[in-house]
Amino acid sequence: MDEQNRPIHTFQVCHVMEPNQNNWLRSGWIQRQAAQRVYVELRFTLRDCNSIPWVSGTCKETFNLFYLQTDEPLPAATRFRPTDYAKVDTIAADESFTQTDLGDRVLRLNTEVREVGPVTQKGFYLAFQDVGACIALVSVKVFYKRCPSTLRNLAAFPDTVPHMDSSSLVEVRGACVENAEERDTPKLYCGADGDWLVPLGRCVCSIGHEEMDGYCRACKPGYFKAYAGNTKCSKCPPHSSSHDQAATICHCDKGFYRAIKDPSTMACTRPPSAPRNLVSLINDTALFLQWMPPSDTGGRKDITYNILCQRCDGSNGDIGVTQCEPCEPDLRFIPRPLGLTSTSVAILDFAMHADYTFHVEAVNGVSGLGRAARSLANVTVNTHQAGDAPSGPALVGVVRKDWASQNSIALSWAEVEQPPSDIVDYEVKYYEKEQEQLSYSSTRTKNPSVVVTGLRPSTVYVFHVRARTAAGYTAYSPSFQFATAAEDPDIADQGQVLVVVTASVGGFSLLVILTLFLLITGRCQGYIKARMKSEEKRRTRFRSGHAIPFSGIKTYVDPDTYEDPTQAVEEFAKEIDPSYICIERVIGAGEFGEVCCGRLRIPGRMDIAVAIKTLKGGYMDQQRREFLREASIMGQFNNPNIIRLEGVVTKSRPVMIVVEYMENGALDSFLRTRDGQFTVLQLVGMLRGIAVGMTYLSDMGYVHRDLAARNILVDENLVCKVSDFGMSRVLEDDTEAAYTATGGKIPIRWTAPESIAYGKFSSASDIWSYGIVMWEVMSYGERPYWEMSNQDVILSIEEGYRLPAPMGCPVTLHQLMLHCWQKEPGQRPCFDDVLSFLDKLIINPSSLLTLVNDAQSFPDSPEDMPDYPLFISIGDWLDSIKMSQYKNNFLAAGYTTLDSISTMSIDDIRRIGVCLIGHQRRIISSIQSLRLQFHHIQQSGFQV
Ligand code: ADE
Repeated sequence: MDEQNRPIHTFQVCHVMEPNQNNWLRSGWIQRQAAQRVYVELRFTLRDCNSIPWVSGTCKETFNLFYLQTDEPLPAATRFRPTDYAKVDTIAADESFTQTDLGDRVLRLNTEVREVGPVTQKGFYLAFQDVGACIALVSVKVFYKRCPSTLRNLAAFPDTVPHMDSSSLVEVRGACVENAEERDTPKLYCGADGDWLVPLGRCVCSIGHEEMDGYCRACKPGYFKAYAGNTKCSKCPPHSSSHDQAATICHCDKGFYRAIKDPSTMACTRPPSAPRNLVSLINDTALFLQWMPPSDTGGRKDITYNILCQRCDGSNGDIGVTQCEPCEPDLRFIPRPLGLTSTSVAILDFAMHADYTFHVEAVNGVSGLGRAARSLANVTVNTHQAGDAPSGPALVGVVRKDWASQNSIALSWAEVEQPPSDIVDYEVKYYEKEQEQLSYSSTRTKNPSVVVTGLRPSTVYVFHVRARTAAGYTAYSPSFQFATAAEDPDIADQGQVLVVVTASVGGFSLLVILTLFLLITGRCQGYIKARMKSEEKRRTRFRSGHAIPFSGIKTYVDPDTYEDPTQAVEEFAKEIDPSYICIERVIGAGEFGEVCCGRLRIPGRMDIAVAIKTLKGGYMDQQRREFLREASIMGQFNNPNIIRLEGVVTKSRPVMIVVEYMENGALDSFLRTRDGQFTVLQLVGMLRGIAVGMTYLSDMGYVHRDLAARNILVDENLVCKVSDFGMSRVLEDDTEAAYTATGGKIPIRWTAPESIAYGKFSSASDIWSYGIVMWEVMSYGERPYWEMSNQDVILSIEEGYRLPAPMGCPVTLHQLMLHCWQKEPGQRPCFDDVLSFLDKLIINPSSLLTLVNDAQSFPDSPEDMPDYPLFISIGDWLDSIKMSQYKNNFLAAGYTTLDSISTMSIDDIRRIGVCLIGHQRRIISSIQSLRLQFHHIQQSGFQV
């Protein structure tokens, strides 16, 4: 009976009372099969000799296991010879029969496993020897181990028998499942115990298939997979579809295409529609085409434009036949005729009195792939229009003077009621009557009115106005002569002077505020404005204190696009006779030579103070070009907040660039010497001036790249003007510029992160720099990020830190700075926004009253305030910021460690007896600097 009392068959022996027992039991022949290592599991019972009376000496408690290997079964008649068998082991029991008190016998089964072998022949016998025990052999199981077939990493591994030697593993290569392919050879190792070990390599699902439950299944219709790998099938991108299973690509819908280099994950796209609003402009030497991008880009960003030109000398004679042929090969297109990325082109060297037809073709990466018609816009230009010949009759009749000040004249004219085609804008050409037409200036406006600024007092000017339509310019109006007002020392023409006075008086009645705003914006000139009629006021509304440049049209021409850069200088800068220049003294040194100040005395004109940049002798041709490059950029600008180019001297030595003189020099050093001496409104007035200049530059499509307080010049009336244009390409001259990893030279502290990382400069990166200039102005010329290294500045910006508000800075201004320092260029404001924001602050000065009076804004909360490193004393610190005279004040007030000053506010600084506002500012900003540096050290994980 077994443990559950079921009858079982056993082999038994129990000759425990007779000595010298030698009883054998032998198995039949067992085939080895694939086994390398054979195991035998024995289940048996064995009686405890102590439980049997009078058997001591004869009773045994073990039996022996033997084996014999052969390639074939032994013949039936073979005599059993124990000596042929090899002993495997002596088997003893863990349990045994025991007699209970009740006399019941309880069966206890023993299980023992032994390894037999090594077995190398085809089969074997097992034999059991009893030497006098009381045993019942219940079962004998003979087996070997194998690693079972399995799927791992999309590979199938077969049933594998382990190695004979238990210390070595069997290496097994897997086979990729259907629709999968090998990456690294898939392998598993079969261990002696039948376990799979150490999976290596893998298979991945092939194209058109994805992994599911360990197998590779086909992508469903509407999905595709273009690359083998462990990725899922993707939904077809827009304008494409897949109709079958296992698609490796989605085919483009009708009318949509994929360019060769387009990835299969990209939406299918189509050719663009035609360019819009193509217009031509023509002057004596150049013909300009301008257009707007197509309304439908086809879903792509790689639009370029090709200019196709035909010369149609038509209406020949009487028969009126127009004959067109390709344009002359020597017609020059700037920057080039094909593959234009911008929406304008200049055309030079055209024939006079000819008809040209220009087709502007919009092309993208899939143009030409389909059978779609070409996307063309056409314009025909008659070069009679060059110079005097207009494309139509004058649309402007009488031009009126609305008012005049010493430096400005406001004009207006009647709009033609029904012009033959829409008027795009007006061009106002003007020159000093005395100068005749030797040189003239021009400005554009969209409205039939303009305020022409930058004029000389008591001077008669001649004005002509002409309209521009899609067909080009119409004829000029007759000329009109108007004079500027006489010089009157009592009337300040510069708004900022009045701002200073008015703001410091502190009266903020609506009238004063309004006057302030109008004056600071330069929208009227002194009291003359008060005389303007309301209608005139309405018409002279404009953005930047200057006539609106023709919006949307990029008028800045990069001198580098000229084959010969001297041509650009000739085009944009007036040549000055050197005998008109009187150099007075040296005021500085530039990269190319000395900077002097002096007077420009042009006969018949009032002489003016000028700054003269000279090119030192012994220069190379390349240096001369670089030097004059700034003049050919500056000469294209005409704005009260951009430094004005008077002219150049290139035809004699030394070569010179002459610009207006700015009495107060560079803004950063100017503010440092006047620490704490301006009202907030005055500082905002300076920032506004810079914003006006930058708005103008960005409207022109010009990116400055080196906007910083050191590159702003300040005149005697605190008017700030943007300067330093030569550096927009190479920043060699800027001592702040450091080399980046990509080899560019960049003023790190002023530069947007995307410009440092990828060299991507734009008006949005200029806005970042403008935010830094705001900070420089509000902190009176403090160095941005103080003495932190450039590397630390880059890291802290990357970590999201931004400069804290300078002491006494209105919260609104710091918020504007933070807005300018958005990581995403697209999220920063544009200069227009900055300008209107500043205007609102100026109109509503109470918005400037909430000051960030102490450094509570950094770090974010007082709990976050770190402990300071105690590595220098208060005395060392005050020495380092040249404030040693306050050592006793700090000590007397109980501030003995840097740690203890960490939470000091401006009130605390005042309370301990620092009375001068400039000194308060220096001390508090140094505390801020220490906090920032310490915080950064903590962020970088440095140990102090
Ligand atoms: N330094 C450089 N340019 C200057 C200018 N235009 N006026 C005064 N100082 C200058």
